[in-house]
Amino acid sequence: MNEEYSGEDYIVVKALENGVTIMGLTRGRDTRFHHTEKLDRGEVIVLQFTEHTSAIKIRGKAEIYSQHGVITSEGSPGGKATS
Ligand code: TRP
Repeated sequence: MNEEYSGEDYIVVKALENGVTIMGLTRGRDTRFHHTEKLDRGEVIVLQFTEHTSAIKIRGKAEIYSQHGVITSEGSPGGKATS
C-alpha cells in the first residue's frame, strides 16, 4: 500500500443529533484512535478510508451512507450526544 492509497468509495455521515463523534482507527496491527471529529445536528462529513485509517467508529445518532446502503446509528442514552 503506497502513500497515495485511499479507498475508492466515499462514505457520508449525517449527524441526527448534536455531538455525534466519528473516530478514526489506525490501519495495521496496532489499533488505536488517531482522530476524532465532532458533528452537530445536520452537519455532514464525506470521508474515505486511507492508508492510515482502516475503520471508523461512530457514536451518537447518525445516518451513514455507503455502498452497503443507509444505516442509522442509535443515539446512546448514557452518552454525551444530545438532541
Ligand atoms: N488496526 C486494525 C486493522 O487495520 C483496525 C481494524 C480494522 C479493526 N477493522 C477492525 C479493529 C475491526 C477492530 C475491529 O485491521
